[in-house]
Amino acid sequence: MNKLALRDLTVRGKRVLTRVDFNVPLDKNNRVSDDTRIKAALPTMKYVIDNGGKLVLMSHLGRPDGKVVETLRLNPVVKKIEELTGKPVRKVNDCIGIDIEKVVSKMKDGEIVLLENLRFYPEEEANDDGFARKLAYLGDFYVNDAFGCSHRAHASIVGITKYFPKSASGLLLEKEIEYLAKIMASPEHPFVAILGGAKVSDKITVIDNLLNKVDCLLIGGAMAYTFLKAQGKNTGKSKVEADKLEIANNIMAKAKEKKVEILLPIDHLVADKVEQKARIRVEKDAISDDWCGVDIGPKTIRLFADKIADAKSILWNGPLGVFEMDKFAEGTHAIALAISKTKAVSVVGGGDSAAAVAKFGLFDKMTHVSTGGGASLELMEGKELPGIAALSNK
Ligand code: 3PG
Repeated sequence: MNKLALRDLTVRGKRVLTRVDFNVPLDKNNRVSDDTRIKAALPTMKYVIDNGGKLVLMSHLGRPDGKVVETLRLNPVVKKIEELTGKPVRKVNDCIGIDIEKVVSKMKDGEIVLLENLRFYPEEEANDDGFARKLAYLGDFYVNDAFGCSHRAHASIVGITKYFPKSASGLLLEKEIEYLAKIMASPEHPFVAILGGAKVSDKITVIDNLLNKVDCLLIGGAMAYTFLKAQGKNTGKSKVEADKLEIANNIMAKAKEKKVEILLPIDHLVADKVEQKARIRVEKDAISDDWCGVDIGPKTIRLFADKIADAKSILWNGPLGVFEMDKFAEGTHAIALAISKTKAVSVVGGGDSAAAVAKFGLFDKMTHVSTGGGASLELMEGKELPGIAALSNK
């Protein structure tokens, strides 16, 4: 990457204003239920404090729409940061203003201050210049370690960079780009991509871009039923995007032209309803009326696993079935296991597929699991992320 990196900065004695993505899930008691994103930012946090910098952290949480929402204060993440860094965290109740500037100006080297949810101000999402400037008063350097938000042209991601002579990427951002960009730009072949999830419409641009790069595309999840319907197969009560059948056929035709193999499920786990206590059975090829596809079937698992076993590069985005329910999780689990057994470079796009890998305890068996959902999809689409483009060049 040709962007300035945290390691290029001398942080000792400096206020390092660091945008992180601590948009983490909270449970009903307002406690962090998945701290993956906080852990992923630890190398950057440690780097700054171990090298005598003053770490000023800023993040959004949820979508408060420019208003103060008490349940979306960043307080729940404080304990997690303290546990991980072994340092006390001073959490303030705002993210701009004279009082916050005073707190930050009194920081000692190696200390941590966490600002309040940036999205309590509508100016954050509007990429407002005045707001960006007020944030910028709080740092000597700006570091973006929020890969998961780097597809958003928001004030703390884009607008702010113009107020710093040096805006650098954090260690997580660097790692994300290294793995995702590398697999997209120069993968070792055979390159196999696995796409799942609910909708074809979310992934059209991704598929389009991947057809120029992969040798084989494995399609599962509900989006597979749209492809099967387009081929004239019965899909029963399965989720199908009826207005995307032509697009699905165009994708198949383009793949043929480019000599990319697309494999669709050849059998299915079907259920009479999408509930844990549903009746289930395996059906081949077509799905009967009144039944709904909820996972790939055993033959498809073998077919997909064989392709995965031969791959040298693997990119996975989207679960193969309704994995959140144990009864319908087998396909997604088996595919995660198959990937974990290869020696291939394996990159898992964030969001649901990252959650699945974590659920099955296979996180550490993947070469890289992205912390970004939308951001990793945009990289797979071949787009430049505004938050990365805005950083200083080396
Ligand atoms: C995410 O969770 O994908 C990022 O934190 C971005 O959040 P957003 O989709 O609300 O902008």
